[in-house]
Amino acid sequence: MIYLDHAATTPLHPEARRAMEPFLAGEYGNPSSLHAAGQEARRALDEARDGIAAALGARAEEVIFTSGGTEANNLALTGVFLAERPGRPHLVTVATEHHAILDTCRFLETLGAEITLLPVDSDGFVDPDDLRRALTPRTALVSVMHANNEIGTVAPLAEISAITRAAGVPLHTDAVQTVGSLPLRLADNGPDLISLSAHKFYGPKGVGALIVRRGVRLRPVLHGGGQERGRRAGTENVAGLVGMARALELALADREGEATRQAALRDRLIRGVLAAVPGAMLNGHPTRRLPNNVNLAIAGVEAEMLLLNLDLAGICASAGSACAAGSLEPSHVVMALGRSPELVSGSLRLSLGRSTTAEELDVVIEQLAGLVHRLRRRAGGSARADAPSPVARRPSPVSK
Ligand SMILES: Cc1ncc(COP(=O)(O)O)c(C=O)c1O
Repeated sequence: MIYLDHAATTPLHPEARRAMEPFLAGEYGNPSSLHAAGQEARRALDEARDGIAAALGARAEEVIFTSGGTEANNLALTGVFLAERPGRPHLVTVATEHHAILDTCRFLETLGAEITLLPVDSDGFVDPDDLRRALTPRTALVSVMHANNEIGTVAPLAEISAITRAAGVPLHTDAVQTVGSLPLRLADNGPDLISLSAHKFYGPKGVGALIVRRGVRLRPVLHGGGQERGRRAGTENVAGLVGMARALELALADREGEATRQAALRDRLIRGVLAAVPGAMLNGHPTRRLPNNVNLAIAGVEAEMLLLNLDLAGICASAGSACAAGSLEPSHVVMALGRSPELVSGSLRLSLGRSTTAEELDVVIEQLAGLVHRLRRRAGGSARADAPSPVARRPSPVSK
């Protein structure tokens, strides 16, 4: 099997699993218990918190453990909105965000939130002037993802946070795709809130964190016990959190080397497919993208058909975000780039990982080229691509 869906999830690192094992067996104490077994779990949890905080340039008390990226995003938006809503019910985000942001915004609208959804250009970037214009004295929070999970475009967060800081508005970033692979810190004037998820950096599924800068007001969403300093109730997933901290430590140990290696493989794959598949186009920016992300728009084929056939050939890929897959909905991200409907439905994501090799990618290029040729022939067209539709830029900000 050739696994090229690391943006959906990554395998658990064996050393992260080893770190978790004691807490899945003998060490089963509840970290809130005062006895020795509880205190052993508390100590492990504190260590995990210190590790995550140090990795993100934050203080231990700025880390809120969650059940993953979805919960972290829900807590960031809902928590700030509930804390600020009497005077500042306005939130600003971007059309290409993950559904965990967009659907939370839609929900918050039912509670009276005013949402501005910024458009992106044909590479997936927000125009900083659009952001400046969107901010008002009623704005409680801006949320801009660090890198897009479908097309890999990396946002210029330093420029964006300079704008939000000047306006006195906190900035949240969904960094689920970048923690462990790109540098990001709360310190050094980074974003004020950061969402992360362990299973994207070779940690276990179902654990993550929201980092919240001291001073940012946040109302809890989960109520019950006083865990996480009263900001997120519920007995902590000790084994999972220990595994997350270990996985992040391992990811950061060779982050730069691995990012450079994967970026070279990424570029080899992009060059190979563009050369072998007539009419294929790259979605997202050619260089300012995640080191492991390739997203291709292929005219004249349905990505669904490509995925099914690639799967039969032992190649795991994706048509967009895993969470949206299965719904048969066209990708809202590729659509926001201004691509034609044909190119939206022919968009395929291949995301590389630590185990990916050049040999695997050469197999994928060959298989994909043959498959596209056959599918186009079967569809009654010629093996040559029709002229790809031009990319149009969205005319004006969509605000709702
Ligand atoms: C950008 C982004 N945000 C949020 C999530 C959700 O994270 P989790 O799977 O931990 O709930 C994902 C997962 O696909 C993602 O890619």
